[in-house]
Amino acid sequence: MSGVLGLLGVAVVLLGLLTGRDAIFSTDGLTTQILKPVRATADEVGLIFIPDRFIKGEQYTQTARAIQEASELRVWVALTGSYLLNVADSQQVARSAREAIQKLKNAGMKSRNYVGVGHGIGGHYLQEYARKSALKAVILLGSSLPRDTQLRDFPTPVLTLAAELDGLTRITRVAEEYAKLADDVLWNVLLGIYRTPVILLEGVNHAQFASGLMPPHVSLGDLAPNVTEEQAHLKVGEYVNHFLTATFSSEDSHIEQALRNLTAAFFQCVVKLQPFLVIKSLDTDGEESLWTILAQEHFAAEYGPRVGTYNMVLENPMFFTKQPTSFFAGDVLVLGTATLIHAEDKPNPLQNQMVKESPQELNMKLVSKDAMWKALASKNDTTLRSEANTCASLNRLGLELALALSGKTARERYETRGRPIIVEEDMMRTSNLVWAPTPLQMWEDEAGLHVKSVAMVTPITNFINAGAHYCKVMSPYRAMEWVNVDSLRPYSSQFN
Ligand SMILES: *[C@@H]1O[C@H](CO)[C@@H](O)[C@H](O)[C@H]1NC(C)=O
Ligand SMILES: *[C@@H]1O[C@H](CO)[C@@H](O)[C@H](O)[C@H]1NC(C)=O
Ligand SMILES: *[C@@H]1O[C@H](CO)[C@@H](O)[C@H](O)[C@H]1NC(C)=O
Repeated sequence: MSGVLGLLGVAVVLLGLLTGRDAIFSTDGLTTQILKPVRATADEVGLIFIPDRFIKGEQYTQTARAIQEASELRVWVALTGSYLLNVADSQQVARSAREAIQKLKNAGMKSRNYVGVGHGIGGHYLQEYARKSALKAVILLGSSLPRDTQLRDFPTPVLTLAAELDGLTRITRVAEEYAKLADDVLWNVLLGIYRTPVILLEGVNHAQFASGLMPPHVSLGDLAPNVTEEQAHLKVGEYVNHFLTATFSSEDSHIEQALRNLTAAFFQCVVKLQPFLVIKSLDTDGEESLWTILAQEHFAAEYGPRVGTYNMVLENPMFFTKQPTSFFAGDVLVLGTATLIHAEDKPNPLQNQMVKESPQELNMKLVSKDAMWKALASKNDTTLRSEANTCASLNRLGLELALALSGKTARERYETRGRPIIVEEDMMRTSNLVWAPTPLQMWEDEAGLHVKSVAMVTPITNFINAGAHYCKVMSPYRAMEWVNVDSLRPYSSQFN
């Protein structure tokens, strides 16, 4: 009897060895490296790192160490790597996460608090896997949930830890995630701040979530950081710790401190990211374009006090045939303007990372200065006729708005390091048939980003379509995106 048990025991040990062996030299080539906790006793969590594409598992060692050091928790780490084709796709993530969990257990981890940590594209595939898995939480480094996923709908807590100078997951994309959080906070009071925080690390770039040599898509696309790698890792450690503590700690005093820190982080994000939402909302609220109303008022200039403007956002073919209108309501000249917005295509989530968030251009149909003068002079023959503003002046105004809404540091960075926006003279067109299909001209070179409006002004003596001023102009949000992101990248013809 005891002999049989003994044999069974040997078999179990052998099996253990075999499965252990399996995990080290797994047949599919995936590897997992375990970093043991630095604390002897505390609540346990196990972080399973999924690398960005073409980045090796061990390139997260220092980031992971910084988290272990920052935390009072007993933090285990599994660094997964050696993915086929150097991309951790969903199927491989599922296999490597299973292997990592097995190895964490084998190494002595007792709790089941497994947390996926994904960087860049790794974060994208991780969150797909995490929707139905043993993971209790997700941490996205320089990555985000998909656009159409609300934070509150994700099955586990998620930390979106973003970097201000990330050239791949751009700050304007992060602002979208912040907008979701702000919306959740409005409805669920504070819960979102702790369960699905969105945190922006100042001065950090995409590469600094890892260390070592970066693959070309990162080194070309990323922005120069304003903190050292060590400082970046310290920040990552602190905020990941606040999230882990809030989610997994059993020590009330630690949780309380973590919640306080997460609340502070949220309000820092309000300051940094709300201006992006403000400038974005100028383009349109879905029905009207405040930016177009500002543009018409800029054109009205000294007539401003005697005019009022409204706007309609239209699509073609409605926009194509629409004319700007004016009529008097009492002494006020009411100007009716129209706008067409060309949104940037946002194709698949993997290409998303380099895609601009702001619209490509706005097409505006405004009332010309001459037409305003003619109408106002008909009521008051001392009204002076004066020089009209150009569409180019609207591009300059858009840039001023963008600079005013960017933070002081971002403004200084743009002024000292960024390639400027260069506003070119308007390209004049004489017929709607030619104006309509000619896009706003924007091109990049060493000197900066050139912006050239396509304009058309019809004489007030015209029989049809008299006194219209058409402009294809830059969105102020595009200017803000340029100031905060694209201007900071050195020019590379390969990249454009
Ligand atoms: C950060 O920016 C400041 C001011 O722009 C500069 O003086 C400093 O050297 C930068 N630090 C790093 C680490 O790049
Ligand atoms: C967290 O809060 C403590 C105490 O208020 C503060 O000293 C610390 O700097 C905060 N950490 C972060 C990352 O904000
Ligand atoms: C008539 O136009 C002039 C010049 O624009 C202005 O100063 C004056 O106030 C206007 N008068 C009335 C009655 O609107």
